[in-house]
Amino acid sequence: MEKYLDQNIKDIIAAYPGVADVLNEYKIGCTACAAGTCRLRDIVEIHNLPGEEEEKLMGRIALAISPEGGLKVPKSSRKAAAPAGGLKYSPPLKRLVDEHVLIKRLLALIPRLVAGVDLRSKEGERLARGGLKFIRTYADKYHHAKEEDILFKYFDGGLDVIKVMLQDHVTGRGHVKGADEALAAKDGAAAAEHFLAYRELLTEHIKKEDEILYPWMDRNLSTKQVGELFSKFNEADEKFDPALIAECEAIVTGLEKLPGAAEKRLKA
Ligand SMILES: [Fe+2]
Ligand SMILES: [Fe+2]
Repeated sequence: MEKYLDQNIKDIIAAYPGVADVLNEYKIGCTACAAGTCRLRDIVEIHNLPGEEEEKLMGRIALAISPEGGLKVPKSSRKAAAPAGGLKYSPPLKRLVDEHVLIKRLLALIPRLVAGVDLRSKEGERLARGGLKFIRTYADKYHHAKEEDILFKYFDGGLDVIKVMLQDHVTGRGHVKGADEALAAKDGAAAAEHFLAYRELLTEHIKKEDEILYPWMDRNLSTKQVGELFSKFNEADEKFDPALIAECEAIVTGLEKLPGAAEKRLKA
């Protein structure tokens, strides 16, 4: 089994397609990943399964590779995954998780915005442009900038897990540009498509950060680095105009007053 641990997951899946089904069962989305050059060893490490679960997963993968059972599964040295009471984050990463909360409130409003408002109308365009302003300002310049310019710099930029996250940010910017252009061209359907695609992308992106990426980063950051991150995040936040943050919060609160939006939020 050892020799497979250092192989790229896409190569393993190409040679042994059954491995993809096993990973999917464990909600490890390698088949949907755009890069796929993670080593099997890294995937197991990043997902931080409890030792027993890890051994079970490796056993299943071993059988998918060699159904006659010739591969020896290595013993796991891992103790446990998420601590009782949910995921715990270091203070700087907790701040990013908290910022996700406001972004998720905006994402939850998108279906209502695109279905309940005529985006070609003056009022519809005003509301949609508010949503774009929030995404560009709060989600991108405030939040993603801290990830890209500070946090991710502490890790090897060649790692798939970082490359995929950066690519999501780029794809998101493409949808914002697309929605902006569609609104200008009074093409409500195209604007709606970009908004919905952005919602789907960012919802999944935030889930990956909250549940996989940030906990993995926290496990790999030293106490000194956590302290540095905390100071650097403070510096970045202090440079950011507080009036813009207040404006972004007001955009979300305003959109939440759309008819039906409150019920949507409760269900989201
Ligand atoms: Fe991100
Ligand atoms: Fe994020």
